[in-house]
Amino acid sequence: MATTRHFDVSDSAIEAAARLMRNGEVVAFPTETVYGLGADASSPAGIERIYEAKGRPRHNPLIIHVSDVEMARRMAHFNPEAELAAASFWPGPLTLLLPKREDAGLATAVTAGMKNVAIRFPSSSVAQRLIRAVGFPVAAPSANRSGKVTSTRFVEVVRQLDGRISGIVEEDICDHGLESTILSLVGSPIILRHGSVPREALEALLGPIDEDTGPQKVSAPGQLKSHYAPEAAVQMNVDRPAANMVWVGFGPECEGCQLTLSSSGDLQEAARNLYTAMSEADALAGASDVIAFAPVPLIGLGRAINDRLRRAAAPRCA
Ligand code: TXA
Ligand code: MG
Repeated sequence: MATTRHFDVSDSAIEAAARLMRNGEVVAFPTETVYGLGADASSPAGIERIYEAKGRPRHNPLIIHVSDVEMARRMAHFNPEAELAAASFWPGPLTLLLPKREDAGLATAVTAGMKNVAIRFPSSSVAQRLIRAVGFPVAAPSANRSGKVTSTRFVEVVRQLDGRISGIVEEDICDHGLESTILSLVGSPIILRHGSVPREALEALLGPIDEDTGPQKVSAPGQLKSHYAPEAAVQMNVDRPAANMVWVGFGPECEGCQLTLSSSGDLQEAARNLYTAMSEADALAGASDVIAFAPVPLIGLGRAINDRLRRAAAPRCA
């Protein structure tokens, strides 16, 4: 591919980026969670280019992003629980898995041929303006090469994807720093992926919620293997680092740590810093070094942080 155009967030630049997407091209853009790799969800050519640029297996479906709830209702069948969740958490970092409407007009590959569709209404105004300018939902996985560290900064998107896509909208506003929480409301509520909305907040609204743990459950196909991985090996729950470790601390006890997720032990700050810390630790690590993360408590956002660390530390089979 030729050069990747870099866009600012002026009206004319957003319109130019949207025009590329309407023509079946792929443009990366920021959201309040992470950068997305977007294409017009009605365009088979655009969706094909996402899979190609990301190096993503074709059986792994994409989240569609809408600019209002009405647009979401045209794509999926909403039940009362979905209406409640949307009213409470949208716009924001919650993705709902719902039965797809047959007349939605989505390219088949968006859902990898499945009957359900994952929908998110981002709170980022840049994302909203871009989707409105496209005039149709925007399908977008996170803007990283498949299996690699998620991008929460423009420089990281450029590092992984420049030359592979048509454009990147630059605005570093990924304040949550972790992907959205994915909640299936196809049957009884199930969390398919922990993310920026903690389970406790969802349970306060909907009552006790199951997790997608067993093979018998519905699955988010992308959640199965090594993922979010830097180049160096990763180890979690390390409170005494060895000599060959780049140690990433959490909380005030951090003697000898090179980096920290949050020196005060704040989970929100740790979530925001997680992927940047992974890339920075990777840059510090030598060939035989290990990136070691201090323990992070398994409550609130800590569940999503531990989930990402577990996958980053998983064996790297392709
Ligand atoms: O915060 C986020 O969710 C970001 C931003 C860009 O919105 N997006 C994101 O997309 O994290 P991605 O593709 O990296 O992760 C989406 C996950 C994948 O594990 C995929 O398998 C699952 O959602 N998913 C998407 N559509 C699905 C569907 N129809 N059924 C089941 N799982 C689905
Ligand atoms: Mg991803």
